[in-house]
Amino acid sequence: MDALVADIHPPKGAEQFAADVIAGLSQPQKTLPSKYFYDTRGSDLFEQICELPEYYPTRTEMALLRDRASDVAARAGADVALVEFGSGASIKVHMLLDALDAPRAYVPVDISGDHLRAGAKSIAADYPGLAVLPVHADFTTQFALPPEVGDAVHLGFFPGSTIGNFTRDAARAFLADARRTLGDGGIFLVGVDVKKDQATLHAAYDDAAGVTAAFNMNLLVRINRELAADFDLDAFGHRAFFNDERGAVEMHLVSRKPQSVELLGQRFDFRADETIHTEDSHKYGTAEFADLAAAAGWRADEVWCDPDELFSLHLLRA
Ligand SMILES: C[S@@+](CC[C@H](N)C(=O)[O-])C[C@H]1O[C@@H](n2cnc3c(N)ncnc32)[C@H](O)[C@@H]1O
Repeated sequence: MDALVADIHPPKGAEQFAADVIAGLSQPQKTLPSKYFYDTRGSDLFEQICELPEYYPTRTEMALLRDRASDVAARAGADVALVEFGSGASIKVHMLLDALDAPRAYVPVDISGDHLRAGAKSIAADYPGLAVLPVHADFTTQFALPPEVGDAVHLGFFPGSTIGNFTRDAARAFLADARRTLGDGGIFLVGVDVKKDQATLHAAYDDAAGVTAAFNMNLLVRINRELAADFDLDAFGHRAFFNDERGAVEMHLVSRKPQSVELLGQRFDFRADETIHTEDSHKYGTAEFADLAAAAGWRADEVWCDPDELFSLHLLRA
């Protein structure tokens, strides 16, 4: 193992993946947890999504961070430990690290081991005096921060509207867990996608180049490879739409015909047009998200939006 990466809480491996996939495909509405998108290929595809013209969240959040990093740094003070949930390639965090006053440590947390390692290495190279303490973990499970973080004020960072992948109830539970992890003096900067017109949302999750479709389909590629399944990749397609009632973009994999799939000795039947629900991306009004955070023990300190109100950054205090 790379000395830089502390595998303190490695995500549960193949057995858990198999159990989750079998449980999900056994539901009346078949479903798969979106956290399994992020094998090495899935993480690469996500980075390509971030570059797409239709995918407004990344560039909008980056611009907000550029404008607001110094405000965040002023509120956080010196010597903080910066904890990033779902850090991926650790790109956006540069803007915070550049603005913060002598941060004590950077703790990226991600389920995707290769990307976590690569991101941590690049941050360690760019900020030589900084303690970089990556944690390979599933952030939906209990995990402790590395002891080196000590008694520093904990500044949490959860960009990319990854919080939108939780249902509203699960988001509240996650925020309450993060409140415990970040402690009484904790501060939490969360990037949250905002409700908007359906055409913009649809394009962002079903781009013309087909990268989001490939990202969605990669889940079946992973299941075929890791769980000896026989999904016929040509017999499934990508579908994304905004579910107004749930306030979420839903991504599905659609069976193009009646078919059966074998997976670890079990058979799963699909009707024509039957779907596997693979991801939710919940969208929040700014007051709606502040209320959700308050229910989880956070006080809204600031909320910043871009002029077109496409994306929001919430600064929360424990
Ligand atoms: C939507 S991407 C956002 C990446 C990056 N933070 C950004 O803003 O562009 C979600 C990130 O969270 C990670 N992730 C998803 N589910 C996770 C989980 N349950 N535990 C830990 N990391 C997770 C993925 O590997 C990926 O890096």
